[in-house]
Amino acid sequence: MDIIVLFISFVTCAFAIDPNVTIIDEAPKMVIGVSGRKEMIATKDKDIFMTCVVHNKPADKKVEWRAIAPDNTNIEISEDQDSKDAYRYQIDQPSAISWRVKIQNIQIADEMRYICQVEIGHQKYATEERYIRVTEKPQIMDLLTSSNQLVEEGDPVQLTCNCTGWPRPNVKWSKVAGGLLPSGGQEYAGYTLNLGNSRPDHRGYYKCTCQNMVGKDSRIVYLGVVFKPTIQVGQMEPAQAYGYQKTLECVIEAYPVPSEDQITWTHENIPVSSSAKIKYIEGAMNRVTTKLTIRGVDPNALGLYTCQASNTKGSTQANINLKYSSQPTPDITGEIIRSGASLISISITTLLMFVTVGLLHTCKF
Ligand SMILES: *[C@@H]1O[C@H](CO)[C@@H](O)[C@H](O)[C@H]1NC(C)=O
Ligand SMILES: *[C@@H]1O[C@H](CO)[C@@H](O)[C@H](O)[C@H]1NC(C)=O
Repeated sequence: MDIIVLFISFVTCAFAIDPNVTIIDEAPKMVIGVSGRKEMIATKDKDIFMTCVVHNKPADKKVEWRAIAPDNTNIEISEDQDSKDAYRYQIDQPSAISWRVKIQNIQIADEMRYICQVEIGHQKYATEERYIRVTEKPQIMDLLTSSNQLVEEGDPVQLTCNCTGWPRPNVKWSKVAGGLLPSGGQEYAGYTLNLGNSRPDHRGYYKCTCQNMVGKDSRIVYLGVVFKPTIQVGQMEPAQAYGYQKTLECVIEAYPVPSEDQITWTHENIPVSSSAKIKYIEGAMNRVTTKLTIRGVDPNALGLYTCQASNTKGSTQANINLKYSSQPTPDITGEIIRSGASLISISITTLLMFVTVGLLHTCKF
């Protein structure tokens, strides 16, 4: 009897052909990953399909789908046509030898190995597997990302950025228009850009970019710094010949930007009269230029000029010393400009001279 059983078993073993398990008709399509493993790259929230085809299945064996989580937990998906979790996994049989699983609304937590198997002996299985990678496009998370802000000069500043996305996106900071970051370099890789104590030159537009293999998202953050005016003068010791025009220039940077009446000029500590030609030119990046034009330089016009600018943070002044030159010098436009007013005064002087000379000639005593 024993011998017969043994014989039958032997015959069965010798002639049975091992089941052949293959996975076909995957959506999304299978790709070969870097490590040579068969992968499916799925988009989060989409449905996934895999069909397991089994040739030569022993009649008493069942086709099973299971998964192995990254922590090696075994997750049973299905046995034959029965789903172990009907909410997440649906099983159907498109043909007599195929078992199709649909994973609904795949999530990042579903990223793992999926195995179709048929038992071929005690604890021995014919298997085929796929590794499902789940991807999600980066999206900036408002609550974890800095918005436009205004800080006082000297305040510590950190700009932060974070985003959703899978694989975890790379997060980097750069300055808009390609400037250097205060920390040096064009880019900083990380969630938090630490600027230390804010300086006026920190102000500007910063860009956070989150990027992974499926996309990117970015956010531009404006950092404003409240700071006391700084002044740069065009020329500290300009010189001009009498009768020619000279324009004095102060370039002010400040935030808030000083208004027209927060900028004053003095000459030898006396406010320059309003009739003088003062121009106020507002520029980009919290800059304003003030120009004082002296139409016809004369001895009274020489000496110390001071431009002063103030805002809520304080007041700053800069000096320009206008000197005499025996030769006419170009004005800031680059041209030598002879003053119209002094031309007339010269004409009058000349006229007076002629008149005087004429009178002297006429009146011979
Ligand atoms: C299993 O079947 C597939 C498709 O019919 C075939 O390409 C493959 O070589 C077979 N594998 C084995 C181990 O028999
Ligand atoms: C960024 O977000 C991820 C995912 O929500 C989180 O794990 C991480 O701690 C966050 N990091 C920072 C610096 O906010």
